[in-house]
Amino acid sequence: MNRQSRSELHVVVLAAGKGTRMRSSRPKVLHEIAGRSMLAHCLDTAAALDPASIRVVIGHQGEAVRESQADRDVDWVWQHEQNGTGHAVQLGIEGLQAQADDRVVVLYADVPLLGVDLLKRLVGSNSVVSLLTMHMDDPSGYGRILRDDAGRVRRIVEQKDASEAERQVREVNTGILMARYGDLVAWLDQLESGNAQGELYLTDIIEMAAAEDKTVEAVVAKDAWAVSGVNDRLALSRLERVYQQRQAEALALAGTTLADPARIDIRGSLDCGQDVSIDVGCVFEGSVRLGDNVRIGPHCILRDCEIGPGSTVEAFSHIDGVVTAGDNAIGPYARLRPGAALDSAAKIGNFVEIKAARIGERSKVNHLSYVGDARVGDDSNLGAGTITCNYDGANKHHTEIGDRVFVGSATQLVAPVSVGHDATIGAGSTITRNVGEGQLAVARARQSVIDGWRRPRKKRD
Ligand code: UD1
Ligand code: CA
Repeated sequence: MNRQSRSELHVVVLAAGKGTRMRSSRPKVLHEIAGRSMLAHCLDTAAALDPASIRVVIGHQGEAVRESQADRDVDWVWQHEQNGTGHAVQLGIEGLQAQADDRVVVLYADVPLLGVDLLKRLVGSNSVVSLLTMHMDDPSGYGRILRDDAGRVRRIVEQKDASEAERQVREVNTGILMARYGDLVAWLDQLESGNAQGELYLTDIIEMAAAEDKTVEAVVAKDAWAVSGVNDRLALSRLERVYQQRQAEALALAGTTLADPARIDIRGSLDCGQDVSIDVGCVFEGSVRLGDNVRIGPHCILRDCEIGPGSTVEAFSHIDGVVTAGDNAIGPYARLRPGAALDSAAKIGNFVEIKAARIGERSKVNHLSYVGDARVGDDSNLGAGTITCNYDGANKHHTEIGDRVFVGSATQLVAPVSVGHDATIGAGSTITRNVGEGQLAVARARQSVIDGWRRPRKKRD
């Protein structure tokens, strides 16, 4: 962390609140936006400022909150009773190794979409206190920003303490602010709880600053979503949509064709080559890379995978932990599970499941098959209904199939077993012993034929 600059930066993240309106057994700040907790989003934003320290104030279900981010370089501070935002910040800066002119930034862990650029504007202010505010058509519930005739910020009044006239003010406090350490300590010491909620209000420091003639700057956020807090699940899902819409717009502007930017969900990172197109209803999780000219059909789910250039993934395919070389045709209704690897131009058709198996160049598994713990060579064809019986109830076993192998339909390969290059397996076989190069294996009952067979007839009463 940055310790070079003269005036250092410290971040205090408030995350002790209960979040009753989420109606959840999970702590509020662990609810997710794009597959990551609100707290994780907030801590990423904090870390992007490269501060000297980050402290997170926890209370309600604090153990779970801390556990969720166990490997972060942050300090955890307990606030056992939630006596207000002022109390939380008092605890948050207790014992901090800081100079009087160091900056302390207060963030809320339930404001997940705060952008780094906006935050940098707040932090970059040279004033003693700077506040992030916004204008709202319906300001109810928020603290109102009260300015004097010259437009200077004088005070923040909470909704519950505001007069009828004060409630008309549309500029509200987002809660996010920056203050100099020395002044902050002094002001926090003077806080009193003689207000409608009987709490120590952090917002009361603004009136103290104004009384000392210290400049209070207000940075006005243009986009409400960037500073919106989450109190219930409706707000959470609305912010999720904003987040997704923004990612989709960035992707489209970077050159990916989206059938509908309102119908794509990216929960992680999606990296697209040139001329990629994505149809509606797809979900991308973890880290996904799509090569040049990849086409993804509607309603596919791709997680932690790399799809090689020129490949096509047809509708309703589910791909997880997979690498494909390129020019692959996958789906519709394919399921590729962790450890599946497709060499170039390999083809996986409908209702086919592949797990921990490598499929060689130009090989095809086109219909209704399961290939697990296997290696298939180049130019082989596995017929409809081919099953690798890889599990004996206790252990998994490997199936090895060579190049140019033809496996007839409805074949079971009971692993461990191998099939040599150029071998052929007759349809309906249950292969339990190795098949050598160029051999034909047929392992099924012979057909018997009975002439003049008379079908049973229904009895009459
Ligand atoms: C606070 C502000 C209000 C602002 C609003 C924006 C005060 C007094 N009021 O009100 O001006 O418009 O946020 O959303 O600051 N928290 C703790 N410990 C506590 C109390 C709160 O950690 O003792 C945390 C909560 O978990 C939450 C944040 O602080 O993340 C805000 O608390 P909340 O109770 O939601 O504050 P509001 O009453 O909404
Ligand atoms: Ca709130």
